[in-house]
Amino acid sequence: MPSDSRFEIVVAMDSRQGIGRDGDLPWKLPADLKHFREVTTSSSTYPNVVIMGRVTWESLPARFRPLPERINVIVSRNPDYPHPEDVHLTTDLTDVPALLKNKGMAYGKIFVIGGQQIYQQALQADLCDRLHVTHIAGDFDCDTFFPDFKDRFELARSGPPQQQNQLDFHFAEYSLQH
Ligand SMILES: NC(=O)c1ccc[n+]([C@@H]2O[C@H](COP(=O)([O-])OP(=O)(O)OC[C@H]3O[C@@H](n4cnc5c(N)ncnc54)[C@H](OP(=O)(O)O)[C@@H]3O)[C@@H](O)[C@H]2O)c1
Repeated sequence: MPSDSRFEIVVAMDSRQGIGRDGDLPWKLPADLKHFREVTTSSSTYPNVVIMGRVTWESLPARFRPLPERINVIVSRNPDYPHPEDVHLTTDLTDVPALLKNKGMAYGKIFVIGGQQIYQQALQADLCDRLHVTHIAGDFDCDTFFPDFKDRFELARSGPPQQQNQLDFHFAEYSLQH
Protein backbone atom coordinates (compact mmCIF):
# COMPACT_ATOMS: atom_id res chain seq x y z
CA MET A 1 0.00 0.00 0.00
CA PRO A 2 1.76 3.20 -1.10
CA SER A 3 -0.54 5.57 0.78
CA ASP A 4 1.24 7.97 3.08
CA SER A 5 -0.06 10.34 5.73
CA ARG A 6 2.63 12.99 5.28
CA PHE A 7 1.95 15.99 3.06
CA GLU A 8 4.04 17.89 0.53
CA ILE A 9 3.39 21.51 -0.41
CA VAL A 10 3.47 23.02 -3.87
CA VAL A 11 3.61 26.80 -4.06
CA ALA A 12 4.73 29.64 -6.29
CA MET A 13 5.83 32.78 -4.46
CA ASP A 14 7.32 36.15 -5.24
CA SER A 15 10.30 37.75 -3.50
CA ARG A 16 8.10 38.75 -0.53
CA GLN A 17 6.56 35.27 -0.32
CA GLY A 18 3.42 36.66 -1.92
CA ILE A 19 1.21 33.99 -3.50
CA GLY A 20 -2.01 35.66 -4.65
CA ARG A 21 -3.90 38.85 -5.35
CA ASP A 22 -7.66 39.44 -5.60
CA GLY A 23 -8.35 35.71 -5.30
CA ASP A 24 -6.12 34.76 -8.21
CA LEU A 25 -2.49 34.27 -9.19
CA PRO A 26 -0.80 37.63 -9.87
CA TRP A 27 1.36 36.30 -12.72
CA LYS A 28 0.99 34.36 -15.96
CA LEU A 29 3.66 31.69 -15.98
CA PRO A 30 2.83 28.64 -18.14
CA ALA A 31 6.13 26.96 -17.18
CA ASP A 32 5.00 26.97 -13.56
CA LEU A 33 1.61 25.46 -14.40
CA LYS A 34 3.40 22.70 -16.31
CA HIS A 35 5.76 22.14 -13.37
CA PHE A 36 2.77 22.03 -11.01
CA ARG A 37 1.07 19.41 -13.17
CA GLU A 38 4.22 17.30 -13.39
CA VAL A 39 4.95 17.45 -9.65
CA THR A 40 1.40 16.66 -8.54
CA THR A 41 0.42 14.04 -11.14
CA SER A 42 1.44 10.51 -10.23
CA SER A 43 3.46 8.39 -12.59
CA SER A 44 2.62 5.22 -10.67
CA THR A 45 -0.49 3.08 -10.21
CA TYR A 46 -2.10 5.20 -7.54
CA PRO A 47 -3.30 8.76 -8.14
CA ASN A 48 -1.96 11.56 -5.98
CA VAL A 49 -4.14 13.77 -3.83
CA VAL A 50 -4.39 17.56 -4.09
CA ILE A 51 -5.86 19.42 -1.11
CA MET A 52 -6.99 23.01 -1.57
CA GLY A 53 -8.95 25.64 0.29
CA ARG A 54 -12.42 26.53 -0.93
CA VAL A 55 -11.20 29.92 -2.24
CA THR A 56 -8.45 28.29 -4.30
CA TRP A 57 -10.93 25.72 -5.64
CA GLU A 58 -13.20 28.56 -6.80
CA SER A 59 -10.23 30.34 -8.39
CA LEU A 60 -9.68 27.43 -10.79
CA PRO A 61 -11.42 28.05 -14.12
CA ALA A 62 -14.43 25.70 -14.37
CA ARG A 63 -12.92 23.88 -17.35
CA PHE A 64 -9.79 23.00 -15.35
CA ARG A 65 -11.49 21.56 -12.29
CA PRO A 66 -11.36 19.07 -10.83
CA LEU A 67 -7.65 18.82 -11.62
CA PRO A 68 -7.46 15.71 -13.81
CA GLU A 69 -5.79 12.44 -12.82
CA ARG A 70 -5.58 13.58 -9.21
CA ILE A 71 -7.91 13.06 -6.23
CA ASN A 72 -9.22 16.56 -5.51
CA VAL A 73 -10.12 17.52 -1.92
CA ILE A 74 -11.67 20.86 -0.94
CA VAL A 75 -11.36 22.22 2.61
CA SER A 76 -14.32 24.28 3.80
CA ARG A 77 -15.99 24.99 7.14
CA ASN A 78 -19.28 24.35 5.34
CA PRO A 79 -19.93 20.59 5.38
CA ASP A 80 -22.66 21.17 2.76
CA TYR A 81 -20.50 23.13 0.35
CA PRO A 82 -21.76 22.07 -3.10
CA HIS A 83 -19.12 20.17 -5.05
CA PRO A 84 -18.96 17.70 -7.92
CA GLU A 85 -19.49 14.04 -7.04
CA ASP A 86 -15.94 13.05 -7.94
CA VAL A 87 -14.45 15.68 -5.62
CA HIS A 88 -14.06 15.19 -1.88
CA LEU A 89 -14.91 17.71 0.82
CA THR A 90 -13.49 17.96 4.32
CA THR A 91 -13.89 20.40 7.19
CA ASP A 92 -10.47 19.41 8.57
CA LEU A 93 -7.41 18.97 6.42
CA THR A 94 -5.70 16.77 8.99
CA ASP A 95 -8.48 14.22 8.39
CA VAL A 96 -7.76 13.72 4.69
CA PRO A 97 -5.74 10.48 4.97
CA ALA A 98 -8.44 8.92 7.22
CA LEU A 99 -11.22 10.22 4.98
CA LEU A 100 -9.72 8.58 1.89
CA LYS A 101 -8.87 5.36 3.68
CA ASN A 102 -12.42 5.15 5.03
CA LYS A 103 -13.66 5.44 1.46
CA GLY A 104 -11.30 2.61 0.50
CA MET A 105 -9.26 4.82 -1.79
CA ALA A 106 -5.59 4.08 -2.38
CA TYR A 107 -3.46 7.07 -3.25
CA GLY A 108 0.16 7.98 -3.83
CA LYS A 109 1.31 11.29 -2.40
CA ILE A 110 -0.70 14.06 -0.78
CA PHE A 111 -0.03 17.62 -1.94
CA VAL A 112 -1.33 20.75 -0.25
CA ILE A 113 -1.79 23.27 -3.07
CA GLY A 114 -2.99 26.40 -1.26
CA GLY A 115 -4.01 29.01 -0.58
CA GLN A 116 -2.69 31.05 2.30
CA GLN A 117 -5.04 29.72 5.01
CA ILE A 118 -4.54 26.09 4.06
CA TYR A 119 -0.74 26.41 3.75
CA GLN A 120 -0.68 28.02 7.22
CA GLN A 121 -2.69 25.21 8.77
CA ALA A 122 -0.69 22.44 7.09
CA LEU A 123 2.57 23.96 8.35
CA GLN A 124 1.20 24.69 11.83
CA ALA A 125 -0.04 21.11 12.17
CA ASP A 126 3.47 19.96 11.29
CA LEU A 127 2.11 17.72 8.55
CA CYS A 128 4.55 18.58 5.77
CA ASP A 129 7.88 17.01 4.88
CA ARG A 130 8.70 18.69 1.62
CA LEU A 131 8.04 21.99 -0.15
CA HIS A 132 8.15 22.41 -3.93
CA VAL A 133 8.63 26.12 -4.40
CA THR A 134 8.67 28.22 -7.54
CA HIS A 135 10.55 31.40 -6.67
CA ILE A 136 9.47 34.28 -8.92
CA ALA A 137 11.61 37.41 -8.70
CA GLY A 138 9.85 40.68 -7.92
CA ASP A 139 7.08 42.15 -5.81
CA PHE A 140 3.61 41.45 -7.24
CA ASP A 141 1.67 43.50 -4.70
CA CYS A 142 0.12 40.34 -3.27
CA ASP A 143 -2.62 40.21 -0.64
CA THR A 144 -1.95 36.59 0.40
CA PHE A 145 1.39 35.19 1.54
CA PHE A 146 3.19 31.96 2.31
CA PRO A 147 4.28 31.65 5.95
CA ASP A 148 7.94 31.83 6.95
CA PHE A 149 9.42 28.39 6.51
CA LYS A 150 13.20 28.71 6.29
CA ASP A 151 13.72 28.14 10.02
CA ARG A 152 12.24 24.64 9.73
CA PHE A 153 13.00 23.63 6.16
CA GLU A 154 16.34 23.47 4.41
CA LEU A 155 17.09 23.81 0.72
CA ALA A 156 17.36 20.34 -0.82
CA ARG A 157 17.52 21.23 -4.49
CA SER A 158 17.65 24.41 -6.54
CA GLY A 159 17.10 24.49 -10.30
CA PRO A 160 18.73 26.84 -12.79
CA PRO A 161 17.46 30.39 -13.33
CA GLN A 162 14.78 30.55 -16.02
CA GLN A 163 12.82 33.23 -17.81
CA GLN A 164 9.34 33.32 -19.37
CA ASN A 165 6.95 36.20 -20.07
CA GLN A 166 9.72 38.53 -18.86
CA LEU A 167 9.61 36.85 -15.44
CA ASP A 168 12.73 35.50 -13.76
CA PHE A 169 12.08 32.34 -11.77
CA HIS A 170 13.55 29.06 -10.58
CA PHE A 171 12.26 25.87 -9.03
CA ALA A 172 13.47 24.72 -5.62
CA GLU A 173 12.74 21.98 -3.11
CA TYR A 174 13.02 22.23 0.65
CA SER A 175 12.97 19.35 3.12
CA LEU A 176 12.09 19.34 6.80
CA GLN A 177 15.14 19.74 9.01
CA HIS A 178 15.73 16.80 11.32
N1 LIG B 1 0.93 30.98 -5.69
C1 LIG B 1 0.43 29.80 -5.39
O1 LIG B 1 1.12 28.77 -5.47
C2 LIG B 1 -1.02 29.69 -4.96
C3 LIG B 1 -1.59 28.44 -4.75
C4 LIG B 1 -2.93 28.38 -4.35
C5 LIG B 1 -3.64 29.55 -4.15
N2 LIG B 1 -3.04 30.74 -4.37
C6 LIG B 1 -3.77 31.99 -4.15
O2 LIG B 1 -4.12 32.09 -2.77
C7 LIG B 1 -5.29 32.89 -2.66
C8 LIG B 1 -6.34 32.17 -1.83
O3 LIG B 1 -5.85 31.95 -0.51
P1 LIG B 1 -6.84 32.14 0.74
O4 LIG B 1 -6.03 32.00 1.97
O5 LIG B 1 -7.64 33.40 0.53
O6 LIG B 1 -7.89 30.94 0.58
P2 LIG B 1 -7.76 29.34 0.65
O7 LIG B 1 -6.74 28.95 1.65
O8 LIG B 1 -7.64 28.79 -0.73
O9 LIG B 1 -9.22 28.94 1.14
C9 LIG B 1 -9.73 29.50 2.32
C10 LIG B 1 -10.98 28.75 2.70
O10 LIG B 1 -10.62 27.46 3.23
C11 LIG B 1 -11.57 27.10 4.22
N3 LIG B 1 -10.87 26.98 5.51
C12 LIG B 1 -9.85 27.73 5.99
N4 LIG B 1 -9.51 27.32 7.22
C13 LIG B 1 -10.31 26.27 7.53
C14 LIG B 1 -10.44 25.42 8.65
N5 LIG B 1 -9.67 25.57 9.75
N6 LIG B 1 -11.36 24.45 8.63
C15 LIG B 1 -12.15 24.27 7.55
N7 LIG B 1 -12.08 25.06 6.43
C16 LIG B 1 -11.17 26.04 6.43
C17 LIG B 1 -12.59 28.22 4.30
O11 LIG B 1 -13.61 27.88 3.39
P3 LIG B 1 -15.15 28.33 3.66
O12 LIG B 1 -15.13 29.82 3.58
O13 LIG B 1 -15.92 27.67 2.56
O14 LIG B 1 -15.49 27.82 5.02
C18 LIG B 1 -11.79 29.41 3.81
O15 LIG B 1 -12.59 30.46 3.29
C19 LIG B 1 -5.76 33.18 -4.08
O16 LIG B 1 -5.29 34.45 -4.50
C20 LIG B 1 -5.09 32.08 -4.89
O17 LIG B 1 -4.90 32.43 -6.25
C21 LIG B 1 -1.75 30.84 -4.77
